[in-house]
Amino acid sequence: MIATRNMHVCTLVGARPQFVKAAALSPKLKEFGIKETLVHSGQHYDSTLSQVFFDELAIPAPQINLEVGSSSHAKQTGDIMVRFEQYINGTGPYDIVIVYGDTNTTLAGALVASKCNIPLAHIEAGMRSHNWNMPEEINRILTDRVSQWLFAPTETAVENLKREGLQDYIHLVGDVMFDATQLFSQHAKDHKPLKSITHYEPNKYYLATVHRASNTDNRENLQNIFDAFGQLSLPVSLPIHPRTESALTNIKVPKNVDIIDPVSYLEMLTLISNAKRILTDSGGLQKEAYWLGIPCVILREETEYPEICHNSWSICAGSNPKSIVDAITKDPNGPQTNFGHRPDESPVDMIVSALMTSSNG
Ligand code: UD1
Repeated sequence: MIATRNMHVCTLVGARPQFVKAAALSPKLKEFGIKETLVHSGQHYDSTLSQVFFDELAIPAPQINLEVGSSSHAKQTGDIMVRFEQYINGTGPYDIVIVYGDTNTTLAGALVASKCNIPLAHIEAGMRSHNWNMPEEINRILTDRVSQWLFAPTETAVENLKREGLQDYIHLVGDVMFDATQLFSQHAKDHKPLKSITHYEPNKYYLATVHRASNTDNRENLQNIFDAFGQLSLPVSLPIHPRTESALTNIKVPKNVDIIDPVSYLEMLTLISNAKRILTDSGGLQKEAYWLGIPCVILREETEYPEICHNSWSICAGSNPKSIVDAITKDPNGPQTNFGHRPDESPVDMIVSALMTSSNG
C-alpha cells in the first residue's frame, strides 16, 4: 500500500471517546504518508475530559481548538459549524474530512464537510439504537447520510446502513476502539497500579459510569440506578461525569458508592480489567469491557452493539433496580465472539487502506 500523492485529511474531534479513537488512527495515517490536520471543537474542555487524553495517549496537539464549550444542542452544534467552516475555508485544501461516532461535534463536522464539498469519512458508521429520543441517534443517522466512506464496525451496522439505502458507501472494517484497547491495555498495565487509582483489590469492586441524558436528566431513573447500586455487597467505584455530578443534588447516594474524579484512559483500562462487573450507560465502556473479558450490565433499554449480549456477556437492564441487580448476579454462559474485529487485519489498517484506494482510484 503506497500513497501515490500527498493526501491531506482534516479530522474533527471534540469529546473524550473521540480522542481515544484518534489516538489509534492518527499514527496509522502518519505511517502511510497521509497528512492530518487535527481540529478540536472544544465540546469537552475540562482537563480531565480532554487534555489528559492528549498527554497520555501522545496524540499530536490539535492545530486549533474551536472552544465552543457547553450549551444547548442547537447552539453547540451551530457554533462548531460556524467555526469549523471558517477554519477549513481558511486552510487546506483537504481531500477528506474524518469524523468519529455520534456526538454534536460529529454532526457539525459532517454538515460542514458536505456543504463545503469535501468528501466525508464517518468512523463508527451504522450504529443504531433505534431510539430517536437519543441525541446521538439523530447525529449518527444524519452523519451517515452525507458520508462518502461509511466505516462500519459490525455486520449489524452494515445491515442498518443497507436498510437506509447506503449500500454503496459501506466498508466493514471493525471497530477502531478495539485497536485502541489492544494498543493501550499493555501501557495501562505498566502505568499506575490499581491501588493508586482506587483502594480496592482486583475483583472486589464494581465499576460504574452514568452520563447519558436519559439517565442523568431523569431524576427517577438516576435514583433507581443508585438504589440498585446500594443493594450490592461490594463497593461501586464511579468516576463522575460533570453532567452527572450536577444531577446528584437531588439524589440519595448509597454508602457503598465511591464517587471519584473522572479518570484518564489508561486508568480506565486498569479499572475495567480488575472490576468484578461493569455497570454503564456508555457505548465505549460496554465494548472495552467485552474486549477485556469483564461482564457488563448496560444501564439502558437497548444497545447499539447487540453482539455483546451473546451468551450474556452484556445484559441490557435499563434503570429498574431489580433488573440491574438480577443482571449483575448472572454469569456469562458461553464463550465470546470476535466482535468488532477480524483475527487477521486491524480496523485502522483497513480504514487507511480504503481511504488510499478510493482516493488513488
Ligand atoms: C457527549 C456526547 C455523548 C458522548 C459523551 C462522551 C453529544 C450529544 N453527546 O456527551 O454521545 O457519549 O460526550 O463523554 O454530543 N461538561 C463539563 N465539562 C466538559 C464537558 C461537559 O462540565 O468538559 C458538562 C457541561 O455541564 C455540559 C454537560 O457536561 O452541559 C454535557 O456535556 P456535552 O458535551 O454536551 O455532552 P456529554 O454529556 O459529555
